[in-house]
Amino acid sequence: MQLEGKNVLITGGTRGIGKCMIQELVKGGVSNIAVIARDKKKLKELSLEFEGVKFLRIAGDVADIEVLREAAARIEDKWGHLDLLINNAGIVSAGPLEDLQDEDLYDQVAVNLTAVLLLTKYCIPLLKSSEEAGILNISSGLGLLGMPFYAVYGSTKAAVRQFSDSMRRELAPFNIAVTCSFPTATDTDMMQKFKGREMDSPEYVAKRSLEGLMNKELQVIFGGEERIKENVMNFESPEEFDKKVAENYEDRKQSSMNHKAI
Ligand SMILES: NC(=O)c1ccc[n+]([C@@H]2O[C@H](COP(=O)([O-])OP(=O)(O)OC[C@H]3O[C@@H](n4cnc5c(N)ncnc54)[C@H](OP(=O)(O)O)[C@@H]3O)[C@@H](O)[C@H]2O)c1
Repeated sequence: MQLEGKNVLITGGTRGIGKCMIQELVKGGVSNIAVIARDKKKLKELSLEFEGVKFLRIAGDVADIEVLREAAARIEDKWGHLDLLINNAGIVSAGPLEDLQDEDLYDQVAVNLTAVLLLTKYCIPLLKSSEEAGILNISSGLGLLGMPFYAVYGSTKAAVRQFSDSMRRELAPFNIAVTCSFPTATDTDMMQKFKGREMDSPEYVAKRSLEGLMNKELQVIFGGEERIKENVMNFESPEEFDKKVAENYEDRKQSSMNHKAI
């Protein structure tokens, strides 16, 4: 698949991995980009930074069903069809489940999962009108490995993985590719708390995820050989992986505390 000339909708394109994806899209010859994010100022800045791009700026919360409906309606009105949908916006609130604020639990499900399901639903007729369409869903390494203190975040991301598999099979007759990306720790605002640690750059994660979509790869897994080994161990002998996780239980608990980017 080629990026050139595609009509793209991305959630959360104003910062982090999403913004780097916009950079890549522009490099690849995309000039119609719809972006959903809450911060109006940051949305406006996109137009100043990427001068040649015709942005459809949709200021709003992806947890608001009307915002998602409006996004699909505006795209239909302006472009008639959509080529690429990128479900990227995400939030995290970690810590022991019993200490998690109920609102943070609901919000993570609403933003990381429900919005992905609904926006995809609304975009399918628009994607079916494209000659060559694709969906890129941004999950997380925690969507493959269920880790302590990230039970809610990880559950939403595991659901995004399952949704991607289901939709890939459901949309196969319509020539709509579906790629699911699984970043590990990436240096963005979401990981502010861990600044200074070794992390992937958002530029790299954005470039590699989009490359995966263009190559119609089913999954793009970050974290190298070590992560692949962990995924295999978790699948084939979960008890063995339990022991590995238990070795640094307290450290994991401490580092999850106040890890919140909502
Ligand atoms: N960073 C990591 O280590 C990492 C690892 C694995 C997976 N991921 C996943 O990668 C994706 C991007 O993360 P990131 O690190 O780039 O995050 P980020 O730097 O915090 O940026 C999040 C983006 O999503 C938007 N957003 C957040 N909540 C929203 C809402 N309710 N409605 C609309 N837009 C919303 C933000 O814009 P506004 O605030 O203006 O709304 C922003 O543009 C997420 O799905 C995340 O779960 C990240």
